[in-house]
Amino acid sequence: MEFTVKSPANIAFIKYWGQKDIQLVIPCNDSFSMNLSECFTEINFKVLEDPSIKEMQIKEYKSSEYKQATDVELQKVLDFYVTLKKELSITKDIGFTILSSNSFPKKAGIASSASFFSAIALAFCHAFQKEISEKELSILARLSGSGSAARSIPDGFVWWHAGLTSESSYTESIGANDYWDISDVVLVLSSKEKKVSSQDGHKRAQTSPYFESRQQLLPKILSDIKAAFIKKDFTAFGRIVENEAINFHSVLMTQNPPLYFWSGKTLEAIEHVIKLRQDGTECYFTIDAGENVHVICQKDQVEVVRDSFLKTAFVEDIIVNYPSRGARIL
Ligand code: DP6
Repeated sequence: MEFTVKSPANIAFIKYWGQKDIQLVIPCNDSFSMNLSECFTEINFKVLEDPSIKEMQIKEYKSSEYKQATDVELQKVLDFYVTLKKELSITKDIGFTILSSNSFPKKAGIASSASFFSAIALAFCHAFQKEISEKELSILARLSGSGSAARSIPDGFVWWHAGLTSESSYTESIGANDYWDISDVVLVLSSKEKKVSSQDGHKRAQTSPYFESRQQLLPKILSDIKAAFIKKDFTAFGRIVENEAINFHSVLMTQNPPLYFWSGKTLEAIEHVIKLRQDGTECYFTIDAGENVHVICQKDQVEVVRDSFLKTAFVEDIIVNYPSRGARIL
């Protein structure tokens, strides 16, 4: 049996940061994201008779050849294989070879682990011929360790209900990919790998003196962004997205040890977004756990935004994304 799975990365408009339960990957707050059409992982999965063969090769962004995954990369997949089998009460063991390729730079603040682990969750379920609901699949993806992988399972615009238990911490689509023509113009400022994993960052989130106030503000922010989304009020939506990015990074920069993801180029990009807006192009920024900047605008502004950033010296690459479907078998 051989098949291919494709799964998108996602950009969080309201971020997941901090966990109520580290083992079960239950976040402190709901989060809300959009799946990205041009930032995805494709996995070719072969099921083998011999369970002793469990191999993985990875083709990096812009590389033409597959290379053996490192022991650490393979171990994460093997750990998730054990977790998933346990969750689904599967006793059978299978062998597999995985060929994984990414359409975008890894570990640079564009959730590559989200697209990868959501694809792996779907691939394992398919390999074991387990028909499960989207909600259950999102719960499994969450347990991969990369919690945001759960948001790459449903289509389009996705809400992650934080929940209090494993069963109640799941994701669902609140708008299909054609619901709203919002675009994410990703400015790749550097494709260097980041130094601190989100996993380590979550664990230290509560050491920020601003973590609690963020938690107190979030219910209103979440209900306001949902209202703006339902009304398709892009101005209200964009302002909330931008404020949230600053709010989120304020926690990161003040936790112990602090996480400074911004570079000089990040600040230049922020200033450029503000200038574009002053000149009449409506766009807003958000920044994940990395230095790259995501410029959020409506489809009719994409060309202006892209052309304007192409003229700057600080941008290495630009990836224009539209809302995308979630994880699927091709
Ligand atoms: C900052 O624990 O899901 O991207 O495994 O690195 O993808 P990765 O991280 P994860 O935390 C994501 C944190 C975030 C914000 C978000 O996407 O909600």
